[in-house]
Amino acid sequence: MPILVESSAATPLLVIDAIDVHYGAVQALFGVSLDVHAGEVVSVLGGNASGKSTTLKSVLGLVAPTRGRIVLDGRTIHGWPPADVIDLGVASVPEGRRVFPEMSVYENLLMGAYPRRRDKVAIAQDLDAVFDAFPRLAERRGQPAGTLSGGEQQMLALGRAWLRRGRLICIDEPSMGLSPRFVDAVYEVLFRWKEAGQTILLVEQNARIALELADRAYVLQHGHVVLQGRAADLAADPAVQKAYLGAT
Ligand SMILES: Nc1ncnc2c1ncn2[C@@H]1O[C@H](COP(=O)(O)OP(=O)(O)OP(=O)(O)O)[C@@H](O)[C@H]1O
Ligand SMILES: [Mg+2]
Repeated sequence: MPILVESSAATPLLVIDAIDVHYGAVQALFGVSLDVHAGEVVSVLGGNASGKSTTLKSVLGLVAPTRGRIVLDGRTIHGWPPADVIDLGVASVPEGRRVFPEMSVYENLLMGAYPRRRDKVAIAQDLDAVFDAFPRLAERRGQPAGTLSGGEQQMLALGRAWLRRGRLICIDEPSMGLSPRFVDAVYEVLFRWKEAGQTILLVEQNARIALELADRAYVLQHGHVVLQGRAADLAADPAVQKAYLGAT
């Protein structure tokens, strides 16, 4: 019987330590550092092209930093292929959703649970929880995912990540392109995940809602971290309010 040791509160689950990322000749990240403790929701904020998605992609192994380190639960993972990072228990909801269009809603959700497919009872419970949180998905469980609306596909991508039961879920702009009602539905679920102790690294342009959900946040500008701190402090910061919360 393996002994499970809880990570100590002092040791972050994820450490991004001074990474640079280049796309060919273009440098997208400059010495970006960030950490996420187990049970925390940490948000990465910033305008278009500031490097938010690139930061997330570095964690997932989709881009390789040219400098710096990424450590997940004590393992140095930068340069690892994405499949190996996912095997460590990282779930991802990428920008633009990316569901399997020909497969049904139900099959897409089961794909999320594939790494723990022997856990049949727990998977059935989690499926119920997803259908309960997103009744629209329950009504459409047999429908090909490609025929869902954009907002419904976002819900499906989130549900699939939840079925993974990863110890870290990386989410890229869950509110993008959604009407306020869908944004509320999606964030209601993220608030529930947070209550359940799920660790989340959340990229958002919608700073207002992200700062409500997050414990801490980092603000990126042109590939640099320009601000960081507790979400409540950032939300109260006049500079943040002016630049990201629409205050005048
Ligand atoms: N595959 C790529 N090839 C070349 N340049 C890229 C690539 N992906 C991103 N970049 C560049 O890196 C910079 C950061 O992009 P990134 O996608 O991380 O920004 P972002 O903060 O997520 O923006 P958005 O809010 O628009 O999604 C941009 O200037 C972008 O053009
Ligand atoms: Mg992006």
